[in-house]
Amino acid sequence: MNQVELIRALPKAELHVHIEGTFEPELMFEIAQRNHIQIPYQSVEEIKQAYNFHNLQSFLDIYYAGANVLVHEQDFYDLAWAYFEKCAEDKVVHTEMFFDPQTHTERGVEFATVLNGLKRACTDAKDKLGISSQLIMCFLRHLSEEDAFKTLEQALPFKHDIIAVGLDSSEVGHPPSKFERVFAKAREAGFLIVAHAGEEGPPEYVWEALDLLQVNRIDHGVRSDEDPALLQRLIDEKMPLTVCPLSNLKLCVVEDMTEHNIHRLLKQGVHVTINSDDPSYFGGYMNDNFLAVHAALNLSNDELKQLAINSFEASFIDSAEKQKWIATIQQL
Ligand code: HPA
Ligand code: ZN
Repeated sequence: MNQVELIRALPKAELHVHIEGTFEPELMFEIAQRNHIQIPYQSVEEIKQAYNFHNLQSFLDIYYAGANVLVHEQDFYDLAWAYFEKCAEDKVVHTEMFFDPQTHTERGVEFATVLNGLKRACTDAKDKLGISSQLIMCFLRHLSEEDAFKTLEQALPFKHDIIAVGLDSSEVGHPPSKFERVFAKAREAGFLIVAHAGEEGPPEYVWEALDLLQVNRIDHGVRSDEDPALLQRLIDEKMPLTVCPLSNLKLCVVEDMTEHNIHRLLKQGVHVTINSDDPSYFGGYMNDNFLAVHAALNLSNDELKQLAINSFEASFIDSAEKQKWIATIQQL
């Protein structure tokens, strides 16, 4: 099997995908029309043309605008179901999806509406496609600590449906320390913890995510490379980084895929995984990310398998399931 065939054949777990970032223009247009919500675009083509970002904030402005058309439980179901169909195409057999409740509750959409729509799609994905999934609720870090506390309260009745709490949105100027107390409360309530850190923000934010939030994984984390002591800690603790190569390219975290550090980090023994982040906006789903990395950095079959194994090891599934998928990968 050559590398491209192997990429398609490997079972994979996706650990860093924002469900609102899987919103394809065609579906956005359809839902906007059925909900009678105005969007500043006349056509699917116009939506696509608006996707010319140059950093995280210019992306987020468009991403939040797109999410405004999501109102009813069925909208959230349709959004997640469309993503699960992409998972099936790419052999993503397990996914841990972020959702941003504040993006919706701020507009008057009930927390339960969002969660029930997503949850129903997760159940159908298991039954009809054999894909397992978990939900991770993210706090928007550009909003206040008080707002995050309120969101955590809203999530408590749904604790059994949400595996972890995360931190996303505009990174620079909003360090993990801003949310130290909220995450302490989330940990006490039994949530696992993840946080975006070291995407645009400095290595100090990764240290804070480790020391203050006590994360189980770092989302992105590619700027950890700038701090040798930090990198050594990530290696020693086998701390997973959920790396998103096409996202890094599109948001100019790297200038060219040949300059991406994922291959070097993998060779140094960092527990890196490949993920799609916001695939509708960044030019591709899971396999597109693997293929782009391979085309630029020429990974061996063993390295590609290691990336897939890492995705299951870093996932929140039970160890018997992990071992089952890892054994399947090793036999390829
Ligand atoms: N970074 C931070 N916040 C986000 C992202 C991201 O890549 N995608 C959606 N929200
Ligand atoms: Zn992200």
